[in-house]
Amino acid sequence: MKELAVSKIKEGTVIDHINAGKALLVLKILRIISGSRERVLMAMNVPSRKMGTKDIVKVEGKFISEEELNRIALIAPRATINLIKDYEIYKKFKVVLPETVEGVLTCPNRYCITNSQEPILRKFHVTMMDDGVVARCHYCGRKIKELDKYVIST
Ligand code: CTP
Ligand code: ZN
Repeated sequence: MKELAVSKIKEGTVIDHINAGKALLVLKILRIISGSRERVLMAMNVPSRKMGTKDIVKVEGKFISEEELNRIALIAPRATINLIKDYEIYKKFKVVLPETVEGVLTCPNRYCITNSQEPILRKFHVTMMDDGVVARCHYCGRKIKELDKYVIST
């Protein structure tokens, strides 16, 4: 029998197969931060047949939009989304890497206009390379690779 790391939920969004150790970044991308009121269950570094170890995040009572969920692909490209109603999964899908993301990543170029006083929404173009995801700043062209470091913390 399969052991459950965290209990099942009645209604809401389950994000499964998150790369081990990335659950906190997933929460950041979903803007669930210190002081947020969502009921969140999570597990880090639990055993997984497919991945060795993985993280899981369950947000109860909330159906997160597909667009917002796809941003998770930036740091957890294998994540699976399960939408739950009355304890049943009514939709299951894999995250898809978006072509562009707005308001998710910061540009490391200190002279970039997004790091000035101008009120500009940060925007990156995203592509998949052999060794991972690469994002390019829409405004200055700077390319970034280890995206973890650039996830906006607000
Ligand atoms: N889940 C939940 N609450 C429910 C139903 C499912 O939290 N009422 C969670 C499960 O704990 C699991 C995920 O949703 O983390 C997917 O459930 P399920 O498809 O039953 O598990 P698997 O077959 O292992 O999923 P997959 O095929 O995606 O590996
Ligand atoms: Zn820039």
